[in-house]
Amino acid sequence: MKKSKSYILVGNWKMNPTTYTDASRLFRGLIKKAALHPKVKTIVCPPSIYLGRLKDTSETISLGAQDASAEETGAHTGNISVPMLINAGASHVIVGHSECRKRGDTSDMVNKKMHAVFDRGLMPIVCIGEEVRNDAGEHLAFLKQQLSETFKGISKKHAGKMMIAYEPVWAIGATTAMDPHSVHEMSLFIKKTMSELFKGITMDSFLLLYGGAVDPGNARAIVHEGQVNGLLVGRQSLDAEAFGQIMSAIS
Ligand code: PGA
Repeated sequence: MKKSKSYILVGNWKMNPTTYTDASRLFRGLIKKAALHPKVKTIVCPPSIYLGRLKDTSETISLGAQDASAEETGAHTGNISVPMLINAGASHVIVGHSECRKRGDTSDMVNKKMHAVFDRGLMPIVCIGEEVRNDAGEHLAFLKQQLSETFKGISKKHAGKMMIAYEPVWAIGATTAMDPHSVHEMSLFIKKTMSELFKGITMDSFLLLYGGAVDPGNARAIVHEGQVNGLLVGRQSLDAEAFGQIMSAIS
């Protein structure tokens, strides 16, 4: 019998919720949902202040951080290093989220963070995405450049050990996601560009997620018709019911 494909589901809580009590309640709700969908690989990225306290309860869910410093230690006020995240229980870390890029992270900085993450054996979830699209296809050139700067000097051996999250910036926090047909086109474009950057690595080796206004109603079509390996979900990961419905939709 053909093994059915399993999908990845990443929840990015961003700067929510405000108290540990609420974080813990939400996390327990997500754990229950994840236990019903063992085929979905679920990763939850809470604010890092909660990581250490959530780690003991996270058997069905992997924990990720939302960002990391490229530095190991030292005078970097407000930053959190990769070794700290590992000690707090993270196995994954988002780098290059558009909200961090908006606050000043360049592709070069994201690249340095990725090197730090790989050096310590965490799995990066690397976000890329254009701010606008136009008929002239300038967003494709933009993405190509973003990919080549972001992945500069990353060893081929890491190609299958990272997740690339394609998040068109205009869809993040919006009411409508990208349509599945366009997701498929972009997935092919990104995987092809990656296999050109990582010569000799096939398109299928790259794990590509889609993010931006994913909800229980559009999740299934995005992964199946869009042919991506999974989803990166913001708002709907703050609601255990909705996140569970997304799990069902892609199971
Ligand atoms: P959203 O956020 O699902 O709320 O659009 C996605 C993200 O920013 O990762």
